[in-house]
Amino acid sequence: MNDLPQTRLAVTPLRFDPAFEQIPDDEAHTSKELADTLRSIMETTFNDSGHANRSVHAKAHGLLRGQVTVLDNLPAELRQGAFSKPATMPVFLRFSTNPGDILDDKVSTPRGQAIKIVGVDGPRLPGSEGDVTQDFVMQNAKAFTSATPKAFLATLKLLAKTTDKAPGLKKALSAVLRGVESTIESMGGESGTLKSLGGHPQTHILGESFSTVVPILYGPYYAKLAMVPVSASLTALTGLHVDFADNPDGLRAAVTEYFIQHSGSWELRIQLATDIEKMPIEDASVQWSEELSPYVTVARIDVDAQPAWDDEKVRAIDDAMAFSPWHGLQAHRPLGGVMRVRKPSYEMSSDFRASHNGCPIREPR
Ligand code: HEM
Repeated sequence: MNDLPQTRLAVTPLRFDPAFEQIPDDEAHTSKELADTLRSIMETTFNDSGHANRSVHAKAHGLLRGQVTVLDNLPAELRQGAFSKPATMPVFLRFSTNPGDILDDKVSTPRGQAIKIVGVDGPRLPGSEGDVTQDFVMQNAKAFTSATPKAFLATLKLLAKTTDKAPGLKKALSAVLRGVESTIESMGGESGTLKSLGGHPQTHILGESFSTVVPILYGPYYAKLAMVPVSASLTALTGLHVDFADNPDGLRAAVTEYFIQHSGSWELRIQLATDIEKMPIEDASVQWSEELSPYVTVARIDVDAQPAWDDEKVRAIDDAMAFSPWHGLQAHRPLGGVMRVRKPSYEMSSDFRASHNGCPIREPR
């Protein structure tokens, strides 16, 4: 038994129907352009630094080992895929921010979080056969900034042009944008583009909640997955402004300082879709109503105190691992255009890193 609260399903989940996915004729072309643009970012940063970084989410702020415990009292609808039976499995966590350059943390941008669960059973996704991992790749948001791959390509092309350009200018721009963003937020709005350019509030990354933003299969249903801090020492950090002083790696320092002394716990929560119109698959920009379908807890992640950043972890997790929504079980197949085009881009990015860093990337067993 574990001490997590009993979960009860208050909604009737909608069964996934293949007709919910609609592939535009030009998707393959968009997908190739996305991968080419991301590769150009990697080439630029590789030429500068001699190290192949991820084409986006290049900078990691914490690399952690922990364990995930699947609740043993789940209703049948929630017992799917990686969560189909009570179990405790090893998990790796990588916290990041979204640019493809390694910037001063004062250029404050949206945050990413990727987890890799080791030891799941079941039929595997294409390209992921023979492995035993399940990745969930998340952002601290509940919907994607762009509705479609094509819309995202337009934004990415703009961001790609800023790769490598005048880091000092980005820092100054970020400070201005944070002010503009907080004005927009005080008026009840939010701008994904401003946040991506450095307008994200300078908060502690460990206080953030993350979600897959876009849907995945959940057995016969479809859903979004979230990771939410629940231990008191983590929730105390939510929304907390962190003063980085002059440290360009202020977020990493904050994560390291926390995990020297503290452990941390998060819950993994599932939001099952109940309505294809209100919870669409092909429009990634729609935030699904939590009134119509609240997130329910399916598992807990526990991380003990540990060094959150050291050479061994940089080699083993940052360089020798790739996190992708396409590493995992068919029961959690990524859904919708944004998810479909991620597959070749993530493969391109991890292949580039493996070949240019002379560091094979393998799934842990
Ligand atoms: C068209 C849409 C997208 C494309 C083309 C794309 C592409 C990529 C690529 C190429 C990487 C680097 C992978 C590697 O080298 O291992 C990456 C990493 C990442 N992406 Fe995406 N992405 C997209 C959408 C998203 C969305 C919707 C999310 C959040 C839910 C997300 C979150 C992340 C995170 C957190 C990482 C870092 C993973 C890690 O820690 O290794 N991306 N993305």
